[in-house]
Amino acid sequence: MDTADIRRSYLEFFAARGHCLISRANLVPREDPSTLFTGSGMQPLIPYLLGAPHPDGVRLVDSQPCFRAEDIDEVGDARHTTMFEMLGNWSLGDYFKADQLPWLFEFLTEVIGLDPARLYVTAFSGSAAWDIPRDQHSVEIWEQLFSKVAIAAETVEPGSSAHAAEHGIGDARIVLYDESQSWWSRSGPPATMPAGEPGGPDSEIFYLFPQVEHDPAFGAHCHPHCDCGRFIEIGNSVFMQYRRTESGFEELPHPNVDFGGGLERMAMAAADAADVFHIDLLSALTATIEKLAPRPVAHETRALRIIADHARAVVFLALDGVEPSNNTQGYVMRRFARRAMRQGLALGIESGLLATLVAAVVEEYRAAYPELATGADHVREVLEREESLFRKTLARGVRELPRLAGAQLSGEAIFTLFDTFGFPPELSLEEAEATGIAVDSAWQARYEQLMTEQRERSRTAAAGMFKGGLADHSEATTKLHTATHLLYKALRLVLGDHVVQRGSNITAERLRFDFSHPQKMTPEQVAEVERIVNENIAKDWTMQVHEMPPDEAFAQGALGAFGDKYGPLVTVYTAGDPDGEWYSKEICGGPHVEHTSALGRFRILKEESSSAGVRRIRAVVEDAAP
Ligand code: ALA
Repeated sequence: MDTADIRRSYLEFFAARGHCLISRANLVPREDPSTLFTGSGMQPLIPYLLGAPHPDGVRLVDSQPCFRAEDIDEVGDARHTTMFEMLGNWSLGDYFKADQLPWLFEFLTEVIGLDPARLYVTAFSGSAAWDIPRDQHSVEIWEQLFSKVAIAAETVEPGSSAHAAEHGIGDARIVLYDESQSWWSRSGPPATMPAGEPGGPDSEIFYLFPQVEHDPAFGAHCHPHCDCGRFIEIGNSVFMQYRRTESGFEELPHPNVDFGGGLERMAMAAADAADVFHIDLLSALTATIEKLAPRPVAHETRALRIIADHARAVVFLALDGVEPSNNTQGYVMRRFARRAMRQGLALGIESGLLATLVAAVVEEYRAAYPELATGADHVREVLEREESLFRKTLARGVRELPRLAGAQLSGEAIFTLFDTFGFPPELSLEEAEATGIAVDSAWQARYEQLMTEQRERSRTAAAGMFKGGLADHSEATTKLHTATHLLYKALRLVLGDHVVQRGSNITAERLRFDFSHPQKMTPEQVAEVERIVNENIAKDWTMQVHEMPPDEAFAQGALGAFGDKYGPLVTVYTAGDPDGEWYSKEICGGPHVEHTSALGRFRILKEESSSAGVRRIRAVVEDAAP
């Protein structure tokens, strides 16, 4: 089975067991300020895991592209990637362990055809400190599943990874770890979970690659959670049944299953390939890179892997509306794109790298993600622009660096390279290493000091500008600003929760609002949005303003804008009544009218495309007809 077969069979397998196939989420999470990127399939499902009813029912399945930028430095070895696809299935208070584990085992051994003798599993050893019991039920289910295929599965309980590394696991197949390994939440083990966060014990499944020898650098003995590469985790069933409170845990209204399995890792197991870049999907990309290079590159696998990983990531980011820039998501994307080009240079590739890889990525993924085919032109444009910008920067930086460095590269030089030539610090460090130039050990403190001074200067320069896309604070502009809030909410009511603000620009004459939505709105939808906005103008809501932490704002249902970063307190504007009933709630700096009836009549002038997956509305408010 190749990667596409595994993805398709997984979705079919769970669909045949009553699961509704849900569409993937954007790589930029909506209204979730806790992470810049979607890093697991469950992220968009948090409200439902916490108990809200999901419109598609209690059994869900999907394949979710995920991006974990924090792994960037690991990429280059045989196992790490920053982008991956997570195959996920969820029970929202429906089935539990007794169905999940047998289904997973059946899928892996009978559908994909993995040898059960190569599978190792984990379960939660329990925690006295948090008063959470040992997961004996999972242990018993695994014993039965293995015994059915004539494998006697012994259990061992090392608790910690350190203990397992020191003593080994003998012949055991079921390994009990404590909360540092066999517990999952978005924010890690119990001690680091904020109040309100859901989590629970988990049971992972590992595939053994006996052809990989244990590396004693990771400890005396190998065990499933050893990082040497002999065991690879291919999936994790989280039994999400608790919610963190201030002092401990409480049971969720219903226990859930949150399963996530790495598609690429399942493909590694199916192909018995201990190197993830050898699976069909990624080797197609490395082959494309090899063809681009003017000389043979077989020995330079690290650069190949980095380029393949980063190119795949930036294609999906561009598809999901991110553009290279100097802040938040755009900054991360720029860093990945530029690092790929820098590595390309090491292979002798001096142009056309990203555009060529766009075509290759689209080819590999278009069947599973048709939006890639329709968005390909946009993606290519974004990445070509970044490549042509950066080629100039790169050439200049590589030329200037030795001159600025002299005997040693200082924080001052790294700052100048960035500030004057746009050459990012991490590339300066890589370049210095590659060319044997020593780096001042105190570079970072000096660099940061200069950056802070620089930021102060630009802040002073920006102080005269207005926030929130407003041209001024005149009465006409303020009315249109309030109208924008009413419009945003109406769009979500009519089109759905995937609608997220992507931009806003307001003058005294009109408002312009960009939002994520994959297709043109129908005339009926436009009319309905207009009607809802006017209805809420007529309700004469009071625009109320409150300050609160962002978590509290989101918990109350406040909307935010794409890509915004929040400080410890945000200002929330609510169009509602003082008695608590409300229509719209947004994180926003104001200003707004006091009562919505001041707006008059709202009219949409135009609905058009802004960029791939983003629509634009222009609208006005007029004096209400007598
Ligand atoms: N949410 C779980 C994970 O990401 C399945 O590992």
